[in-house]
Amino acid sequence: MSAGRLDGKVALITGTGGGMGASAAALFAAEGARVVGCDVLVDGARETVERVRAAGGEMVSLEPCDLTDAAQAKALVALALDTYGGVDVVYNNAATARFNTVADMTFEEWEHTIAGELHLVFHLCSAVWPHLVARGGGSIISTASVAGHRGSAINGILAHSTGKGGLIAMSRQLAAEGGAHGIRSNTISPGIVMSPATESRLDDADWHESQLATVMLGRLGRVDDVAKAALFLASDDASWITGVDLRVDGGMVAWSPRARPAAA
Ligand SMILES: NC(=O)c1ccc[n+]([C@@H]2O[C@H](COP(=O)([O-])OP(=O)(O)OC[C@H]3O[C@@H](n4cnc5c(N)ncnc54)[C@H](O)[C@@H]3O)[C@@H](O)[C@H]2O)c1
Repeated sequence: MSAGRLDGKVALITGTGGGMGASAAALFAAEGARVVGCDVLVDGARETVERVRAAGGEMVSLEPCDLTDAAQAKALVALALDTYGGVDVVYNNAATARFNTVADMTFEEWEHTIAGELHLVFHLCSAVWPHLVARGGGSIISTASVAGHRGSAINGILAHSTGKGGLIAMSRQLAAEGGAHGIRSNTISPGIVMSPATESRLDDADWHESQLATVMLGRLGRVDDVAKAALFLASDDASWITGVDLRVDGGMVAWSPRARPAAA
């Protein structure tokens, strides 16, 4: 059997109860990582652990776990240390957001989004940081978004774009502070990906079509498109990559959608 790309590593992945986090848990475990997951969703988180173990992988998880609470973020790090003795990879995948325009957004929606996209990454990174330093390094991956790169006239991303733009900046600063300790920090910016977070909106045929029209490659993203990029950044193949943002968006940000040629 060939060596796994994450053999010997402990990978802490947040939001493993569904979507990209569940996909990453399966992929990372198949590549040899011992995975520590978590979610606010109890059933989803447990199903992911069962699936990983049934496939021969190693995984534990903490559920329910709300990472917007610093004490719960600390408990997650403690689970990783107690179970596997340390952490090598921290994949900040979990997030929640409220979508609205500046004209209609309430302060509660704004606050929920900033906590659900930024506070939770701060809590986990500050809890795990001394352990990464003590271990001599590690890889932090945080999921941002194309919303961190550009505005939208149709999607009401006021707080979401602020959260994800802030996350790209936070990750870059973690890279700057982590370099001397062998800690790498990078973001992934997905475009529109089919997941539990988007499925109800994608059921709206007009919205689906409007999003699809923005993608150079002519299809929406799949959760494993993002998980595979995270696998690369987690692995030693990316050992000289830090402080970057990797767009996984089918080309959404790199063009003006009107330039897309009509299908033959
Ligand atoms: N789906 C997309 O189109 C898209 C596009 C760009 C960026 N993203 C980002 O990708 C990441 C994953 O998105 P997804 O589509 O798989 O979402 P999802 O909602 O399907 O999965 C996220 C998981 O995180 C969990 N979670 C949320 N807040 C949490 C908290 N405070 N503590 C613990 N667990 C929590 C949720 O319960 C859920 O299971 C998110 O950071 C999201 O912002 C998604």
